[in-house]
Amino acid sequence: MPKRPYIVGNWKMHGTRAMLSEARTIDRAAQRHMKVEVAIAPPYTLIHPVHREAEQIAVGAQDCHHEESGAHTGDISAAMVADAGGKFVILGHSERRQNHGETDSEIKAKADAALNAGLRIILCCGESEKTRDSGKAVSHVKKQLKASLPQFEDSSEDISERLTVAYEPIWAIGTGKTATTDDIAEMHGEIRALLISLYGEEHGAEVRILYGGSVKPENAAEILATQDVGGALVGGASLTADSFMGIAMAAGEAEES
Ligand code: 13P
Repeated sequence: MPKRPYIVGNWKMHGTRAMLSEARTIDRAAQRHMKVEVAIAPPYTLIHPVHREAEQIAVGAQDCHHEESGAHTGDISAAMVADAGGKFVILGHSERRQNHGETDSEIKAKADAALNAGLRIILCCGESEKTRDSGKAVSHVKKQLKASLPQFEDSSEDISERLTVAYEPIWAIGTGKTATTDDIAEMHGEIRALLISLYGEEHGAEVRILYGGSVKPENAAEILATQDVGGALVGGASLTADSFMGIAMAAGEAEES
């Protein structure tokens, strides 16, 4: 059975407890739109408070360390995310890669740690404007993914439940620019083929591939109706319940059409 569209809000470094009312509103609205799976990744400090409030939506983290514990000042482990009520973690976001020098092999180690802790993962990939202009976007993204996707040793594992991929062209993040639906379809098709080659048809065809980069209620329907787009990873427009749920509703409508 095809999976429900997955609409995930990445709050980045936004949100204090004053934002809990927004999370509550998102949760209540999500209860009325069950055809769509809605989740938010607030800052670490809000994971537990959102978990306590939410009845419908899942809450997750924006990163985790690859070790379970240790002398890593300022870091947080996957087990800690799970302990706070987190159900998933976003890994390899371009802001982590750029601002914290994260490498593909580190991201793979984090993915393994997160899966071991029982978390689902959303693994991000995407090219810079320079890479796209040089015509190497597809090969760049495939290389990133090949080096950072986890291996699932247990063949009985429900890979498509545990793994989501998010394609986020860096030049589209927070800029108001979005990739064309042709470019999105091409990239998502390539990612789909890679997932099938790595995990087999049964799993690879089912893993959801989210698009991220300036998704808004106004452009969501078109993007979400694109081949192989299984949802959206939303930054700025996830910070208010109005705009975030506008995107979730567009996803529900795309599902019905
Ligand atoms: P914007 O939706 O603000 O462009 O951010 C996208 C993003 O980086 C989500 O992870």
